[in-house]
Amino acid sequence: MTAKTMPGGPRFAPYASGKFQMAMGMVALDLKDWIDVDHSRATELTEKERLLSEKHEAVFADLPGSEAAQREVLMLLLDNLERCHPGLIAFDEGVVHVAETGKSYRLSDFGDHALDLAGRLVQEDLCLMTPGEAGYALHAASLCFPGRWLLGEKLGKPMMGIHEPVSGYAEKLGKPVDRFFTHLKADKPVSRLNWSILDDPALFQTSGHSSTVQHREITAENAGKCLWLRIERQTLRRLPQSGDILFTIRTFVDPLCALEGRPDLAASLRGAIADMPEGMQRYKSLIPFREALDGYLGALMERAA
Ligand code: HEM
Repeated sequence: MTAKTMPGGPRFAPYASGKFQMAMGMVALDLKDWIDVDHSRATELTEKERLLSEKHEAVFADLPGSEAAQREVLMLLLDNLERCHPGLIAFDEGVVHVAETGKSYRLSDFGDHALDLAGRLVQEDLCLMTPGEAGYALHAASLCFPGRWLLGEKLGKPMMGIHEPVSGYAEKLGKPVDRFFTHLKADKPVSRLNWSILDDPALFQTSGHSSTVQHREITAENAGKCLWLRIERQTLRRLPQSGDILFTIRTFVDPLCALEGRPDLAASLRGAIADMPEGMQRYKSLIPFREALDGYLGALMERAA
């Protein structure tokens, strides 16, 4: 399944500076905005149900010892939804009812895997990070919409190991991120944005980084319909009781032609790609359609001039 395009174009434009920045890019988060809800909610929750029933092992995983933190996430989520998004769910006598999908869940059916239920209530993917000897490591996740990574390959790994394939991460971000995790306060949640341009609009993608095979069928003329902007709005908050950190990922996918009528954003995106080190372009699999993309964005700018 693919995400539906937002009417009016992309909601977020993390490339708007026109520069490429390998930075944490954290901004303070008001918890009333922790969970993002839009018109795709019913479709995406239904898609999560399908993935969780057809390939549960690929989209949910947890390690022993994470049970209490999983329950803490579920309780925080139920409380936040009831207070900040009234009407989306009803929670009574151990049963959660989801308004749009009509589905009801009994908490007791999820046993020690409360994060599995939590993930079914929101469009976000949920990753639980637990401190250990090598820093914070991934101990549980409900991950239905991975951006080209495989949960099974990352479970149990610390931040540095998780990001091993990411060009420049170890040198530029590894230590600052580890420090940030150590000092994150429960009352100071944050958010950040990540962007990619992909040749596939699917929300569930488990591979595709570092591809260099040329995409000859994508041209400057058709790139607006053959390429997609994928934005991840990520949040981090410390769980006050367990001390673990919850990482949420909310994914938005728009066809590149959503930038038509926005020559300013087309110019920024073109600038950010031109500014990006070769290794990162390679990691992000931009090389296969780099020229077509540049030509398309240039044409959007010229058309507006
Ligand atoms: C301060 C927090 C974080 C920063 C600054 C950060 C930074 C990044 C960056 C720059 C990338 C490359 C994305 C791209 O441009 O395509 C990336 C990829 C990724 N991040 Fe993070 N990240 C953070 C937190 C996390 C957390 C908590 C997880 C836990 C699951 C995570 C999992 C991943 C994964 C799985 C990838 C893809 C790696 C691959 O290709 O195998 N990140 N991250």
